[in-house]
Amino acid sequence: MRLLVTGGAGFIGSNFVRHWAREHPNDHVVVYDALTYAGNRASLAGFEGLDFVHADICDFETVDRTLREQRIDVVVHFAAESHNSRATLDPGLFFRTNVIGTQTLLEAARRNEVRRFHHISTCEVYGEMALDAPDPFKEDSPYRPRTPYSASKAGADHAVRAYAETFGLPVTITNCANNYGPYQFPEKLVALCATRALDDRPLPLYSSLGNKREWLHVSDHCKAIEAVLLKGRIGDTYLVGSGVEATIEEMADLVLDAAGKPATLKEIVKDRPGHDTRYLLDSAKLRTELGWAPEIPLRLGIAETVAWFGANRSWWEPLLEKASVDEHAWANGGTGPVVR
Ligand SMILES: NC(=O)c1ccc[n+]([C@@H]2O[C@H](COP(=O)([O-])OP(=O)(O)OC[C@H]3O[C@@H](n4cnc5c(N)ncnc54)[C@H](O)[C@@H]3O)[C@@H](O)[C@H]2O)c1
Repeated sequence: MRLLVTGGAGFIGSNFVRHWAREHPNDHVVVYDALTYAGNRASLAGFEGLDFVHADICDFETVDRTLREQRIDVVVHFAAESHNSRATLDPGLFFRTNVIGTQTLLEAARRNEVRRFHHISTCEVYGEMALDAPDPFKEDSPYRPRTPYSASKAGADHAVRAYAETFGLPVTITNCANNYGPYQFPEKLVALCATRALDDRPLPLYSSLGNKREWLHVSDHCKAIEAVLLKGRIGDTYLVGSGVEATIEEMADLVLDAAGKPATLKEIVKDRPGHDTRYLLDSAKLRTELGWAPEIPLRLGIAETVAWFGANRSWWEPLLEKASVDEHAWANGGTGPVVR
């Protein structure tokens, strides 16, 4: 099989490339990535010989030529602007990349008759749920995005379904819970806390410390995508979650515990606008129909992740100056944070 992995130099994409190369050594993988601040060739260390197209997914001619010349069978689409805080500061960029970029890929995939277009999406398209809500989101829950990031991902999901319905493009979609693990940019909660803790610097935590997320190790996410690519039903959506929830503060405590650092490093900062309370997915369909189950318990996964950041300073230290948002600065009415 010949795969095009968009966003393959990002956090989940690079973990997926690593996973696929290990499990399917005879397949040909092409990475397509614009190398924004979040993309990093160093995340693909050991894969220097890989076919790498350094280009924007909004560039139709390059996408079209790549699909044709590389004779791509399957597109696995991770590329996106992915940081909610950044979306609050530069929403237009998110709609451009996540909606127009996805539609550009879909159009090229249609013209080149790819056998499968797999789209990576998020739990956040369903909006927030109350802390005491009894029922998790299901595949057919209504879309109620509340932030420019989640709205742009929702727009992308709709574009994918429109290409399936209108043009018969063979698509699948996965909507996943919050990921953590190696190669995550040190702007997202676990990577931010791990790198701060290792440097004995304060961990900036939003004041709604009790807001909950469902946490999944990135390798379990990669296995879920693999299951859908190999066994998933064309046209279907699968929710990918661990069922394991933890609050922002509980996650910070797990990281501090793993790093052997004191609770006094926790520093409360003002919430960013539109900070969702909670997301939780019902992943029963993926589990029962495709036999997937998460394998890495949260405490162990966090301990391994903190250890990975401890052992890989040369990977993340150069990224600190690229971080686009200062999470301390929401107190200035949203005008203070930096965006590069
Ligand atoms: N991180 C999570 O917890 C999570 C959870 C659910 C779903 N997702 C989704 O998974 C996907 C990957 O997320 P991630 O955390 O790895 O993101 P990331 O920000 O780490 O990586 C994104 C990658 O996309 C590339 N990219 C950005 N704009 C591009 C463009 N215009 N053209 C080509 N490449 C471009 C970047 O260079 C980077 O390599 C995203 O679609 C995201 O919405 C993420």
